[in-house]
Amino acid sequence: MGDVSRRAFLSRSGAVAGSLALGGVAACESGDGRADRQGGTEGAAEGAAFDPGDWESVRSQFPLTSDIRHFAAFVLAAHPRPVGDAIERHRRGLDEDTHGYLEEHQAENEIAARDAAAEYLGADANEIAFTDSTTMGLGLVYGGLRLRPGQEVVTTEHDFYSTHEALRLVADRVGATVRRVRLYDRPAQASIDEIVGRLAASITPATRAVAVTWVHSSTGVKLPIAHIGAALADLNAGRTAAERVLLCVDGVHGLGAEDETTEALGCDFLISGTHKWLFGPRGTGIVWGRREAWDAIGPTIPPFAGEHFGAWAAGVAPQGTDPGASNTPGGYHSFEHRWAVAEAFHFHLDIGKTVVAQRTREQATQLKAGLADVPGVEVVTPADPGLSAGIVCVSLGAIAPAGVVGSLLDRKFAASVTPYRESYLRFGPSIVTSPDEVEAVVGVMRELS
Ligand SMILES: Cc1ncc(COP(=O)(O)O)c(C=O)c1O
Repeated sequence: MGDVSRRAFLSRSGAVAGSLALGGVAACESGDGRADRQGGTEGAAEGAAFDPGDWESVRSQFPLTSDIRHFAAFVLAAHPRPVGDAIERHRRGLDEDTHGYLEEHQAENEIAARDAAAEYLGADANEIAFTDSTTMGLGLVYGGLRLRPGQEVVTTEHDFYSTHEALRLVADRVGATVRRVRLYDRPAQASIDEIVGRLAASITPATRAVAVTWVHSSTGVKLPIAHIGAALADLNAGRTAAERVLLCVDGVHGLGAEDETTEALGCDFLISGTHKWLFGPRGTGIVWGRREAWDAIGPTIPPFAGEHFGAWAAGVAPQGTDPGASNTPGGYHSFEHRWAVAEAFHFHLDIGKTVVAQRTREQATQLKAGLADVPGVEVVTPADPGLSAGIVCVSLGAIAPAGVVGSLLDRKFAASVTPYRESYLRFGPSIVTSPDEVEAVVGVMRELS
């Protein structure tokens, strides 16, 4: 079994059963949406104890400098103290006795990370695979999709590079077709009926998957995933399992900003980095897939799941019963980051998923309303929170957004530019910003206009 110890091997097999109860993990949301968690988030602050009910206390968990107002923090996460502490704890253990720490802690840490993700998503832990990023997850899902020649994938004009390229690569390899549809012409005026209608109308008998993004980083439009799922369920009614249209969602700008469970979303795959709005460890991500949907995916990178090693050692084909473990790329990883994903989910659960979503939505709504009154600024993102999340995009007419990002930074406000052919100035109010800062950024935009 080479370097993989028997104990870790057996432990991972145990992890397949996936039912260890871990102290401090069980939680439920109380009436106000805040977590009622035994144990809470310990050792959070140096000095004052972390109070998840106090936004200043939440903000104080982040080492982000207070010299800057961080409206681009979602691009790549800073680690709040519980996440940073967990990374440091694992790093120290691995540095002091790498093999011993792995032997002793790998199985429990992997279970804790998956259980935390499952609790957060309201999903089954065995349906969750770990990745290093959204892009890796998209590559694994679309690259592993068992497409027959002649089958097609429908995606949209609004998706990010990672979705488009992952699909182009698989289409080149298996001779499948990828079609892009336009779901709306003017983002601010987009409607649920228009989006769902255009997407449903594009499905043909050859369509095997729909590849969309929950919240568009190009415009801030949040797709009505549950409505799309319902429309696809109707279209799937007469199809066999091998022909069902799978709804695959890049969820990276929804996870940690919205509060839906996978059940409520109604998709087949939710693919996301955990290092943006969730403020998880940099270089981490997840893929959740509905159990039956995982059958449509073949692993690309050999997993280190116990069942697979056992089958390899016995010279038989693996019969993985844990799709999450079977689709988690094997090899050794930067485990101090992967295992600290548990603390990132707990951090949000301690504050309350619904509370985080409300805070994000309230600031985004305040920002859109404020910017709508600034001369020369056109808010591109829908005002309706039903069709938007934390991302707020604005057009400045003929003025290049990159220059305005520079001017904002001179005034100590961090914003970003959308990385698309048609690019906009983009803000991301989140749990590291406040309504006062939103008011301040609107004031600066007025100054700059
Ligand atoms: C919609 C979307 N998906 C994926 C990514 C890439 O995420 P990751 O760094 O987790 O691969 C981005 C931007 O970074 C994005 O905007």
